[in-house]
Amino acid sequence: MAQTKRKILITSALPYANGPIHLGHLVEYIQTDIWNRFQKMRGHDCTYVCADDAHGTPIMLRAQNEGIEPEELIARVAREHQADFADFAIAFDNYHSTHSPENRELATLIYQRLRDGGHIATRTITQAYDPEKAMFLPDRFIKGTCPKCGAEDQYGDSCEACGATYSPTELKNAVSAISGATPIEKESEHHFFKLGDFEGMLQYWIKGDHLQPEIAHKLKEWFDAGLQDWDISRDAPYFGFEIPDAPGKFFYVWLDAPIGYMASFKNLCNKTDGYDFNAYWSKESKAELYHFIGKDIAYFHTLFWPAMLTGSGFRTPNAVYCHGFLTVNGSKMSKSRGTFIMARTYLDHLNPEYLRYYFAAKLGSGIDDIDLNLEDFQARVNADLVGKVVNIASRCAGFIDKRFNGQLAGDLAEPDLQREFTAAGTAIAQHYERREYGHAMRTIMALADKANVYIDEQKPWVVAKEEGKGQQLHDICTMGINLFHVLMTYLKPVLPVTAKKAEEFLNIKPMSWSNYEVPLTGHHINKFTPLMTRVESDKIEAMREASKQHLEKTDTTPAKPATKAPSNIEPVAETIQYDDFARIDLRIARIVKAQHVEGADKLLQLTLDIGGETRNVFAGIKSAYKPEELEGRLTVMVANLAPRKMKFGMSEGMVLAAGPGGKELFILNPDEGAEPGMRVK
Ligand code: MSP
Ligand code: ZN
Repeated sequence: MAQTKRKILITSALPYANGPIHLGHLVEYIQTDIWNRFQKMRGHDCTYVCADDAHGTPIMLRAQNEGIEPEELIARVAREHQADFADFAIAFDNYHSTHSPENRELATLIYQRLRDGGHIATRTITQAYDPEKAMFLPDRFIKGTCPKCGAEDQYGDSCEACGATYSPTELKNAVSAISGATPIEKESEHHFFKLGDFEGMLQYWIKGDHLQPEIAHKLKEWFDAGLQDWDISRDAPYFGFEIPDAPGKFFYVWLDAPIGYMASFKNLCNKTDGYDFNAYWSKESKAELYHFIGKDIAYFHTLFWPAMLTGSGFRTPNAVYCHGFLTVNGSKMSKSRGTFIMARTYLDHLNPEYLRYYFAAKLGSGIDDIDLNLEDFQARVNADLVGKVVNIASRCAGFIDKRFNGQLAGDLAEPDLQREFTAAGTAIAQHYERREYGHAMRTIMALADKANVYIDEQKPWVVAKEEGKGQQLHDICTMGINLFHVLMTYLKPVLPVTAKKAEEFLNIKPMSWSNYEVPLTGHHINKFTPLMTRVESDKIEAMREASKQHLEKTDTTPAKPATKAPSNIEPVAETIQYDDFARIDLRIARIVKAQHVEGADKLLQLTLDIGGETRNVFAGIKSAYKPEELEGRLTVMVANLAPRKMKFGMSEGMVLAAGPGGKELFILNPDEGAEPGMRVK
């Protein structure tokens, strides 16, 4: 199988240094790690680098909450992340940090080149500012009531209840999530990367087969919406790199984050002989470069990043590979259901290779979300890995050991069967190469079924009891061990630890794509020890329990929004037509009862009379009214709003109020003469 040796550099997205690795992250690291191991097994020169993404507001605030310096926080998290990755057998060739000298140097260089090329603009913008904390507030640190559906406690950029996106100024009752203060608007000069300068380059790049079809399609939408300048600066206080020619201003975390890929590689070059930075990153580079990422961060990697690289004289990636999001038992990972599972919690209870296999079995080259169904996980791992693959070896190994002194027979009894197994290696390699791991796993398991059928038919346990059939027994078991050997080679990118144990058992050099065709005959193997045990239900239960407890109070960082462009790019305002307005049934309502809601900071429970009919409504007006002040008063309500199930019960409508929030929130109090049930015109 003569082929040229490829020089490949691959990356996974850099995990934020403000929290632990969870099973969602692992989809990506496992996907990339399998590809890396596969390429290495093929004999290619593949290098896999990653780093912690250490900058930004959440990290700065988390450190403040813990009363430590950000450097201390990121050092601790870096240790935790790397321990988690190591225990999941993620084999980076280098793991670094964006808060590093290499990254500062490269970020500065790239910025200066972009600036000197005329691709940086400055202008003054107005932003939400927390007057108590004396800092500008990122959208995710502003909370309030959704302007579209009225759900409380939503972030400044999007609503988790109805999915609407908006700008923080549209949010009702906005407060700073940090101090609780009402944000004010404040001006500041910002630096922008002029993405539009690269429209031609990007249009061309997109056509070059660097992207999955779904992502290329999404990009076209972004193009149609227009490529806007990207805000790359943040005001102090900020944890990041200060912009060289702008004291008090810092690079936005997303500017230096992808540069972290280069910086990690640079760090590897600095400490390893034989690596040449320019051979990988210069425009003349012949090396292949691939980024593995989640679909939520496609915008940064498929527009900003290639444009930044081009504008600063570096090469662009050969491809950006996006994957979908992980759901557990069919829904978003949930803390209360015990399905928001940290890498460490998993490791405390289960073998990491179960998960590597399960993800591999579910992964394809597309961007569909993948579901970890815990029952299916248990059934599949037990059936495939334990029941099929490991079983082949355990059914044959004992006889080889006891009856033949660990020595395999001199010939293969079924060369055709062996050939069928080895011939499949080409197709399986192609599946791996194309990231069709699910396809690869199905092909391997179909072979494992065949191997088991062979053993079932040959019945070594019967033959073993028969007089004078020693050779036959030797042949059958030698054959079984050989089939197992080929299968384990194919599974090695996914199950590196089990594969290593298999190599010890088989007493062979590391398995690779260049040596699995050589049969193991006349060869001594070692005593068999169980390579993998079954997934136990109680372990899964214990992991879920631990996940519920563990997560009660740990996460202080706002979650990320689903796939979308950065908020300065998404269109925000939406005009409605008169017909839409006419569909709203506005009625006068009398507040017959108002009560506190246990556990709710902002809500009052109102019983409303709209002329013979009563409605139960939860309204976020507690900051402005005591319940007793409301009873008997009239207000306007939306009477035909679909009932919504809220945490505290069903809400059957919505009360209209006006004002900036806090104490200044006024329910409309119609003139005398209004009667409950009247339509509002
Ligand atoms: N720091 C940025 C990436 C910068 S890359 C220059 C970031 N970090 S992250 O920690 O939030 O996510 C790291 C990777 O994990 C991303 O590619 C993200 O898509 C992926 N995932 C995070 N949660 C995930 C799931 N629930 N499911 C699948 N992948 C997920 O984004
Ligand atoms: Zn909403």
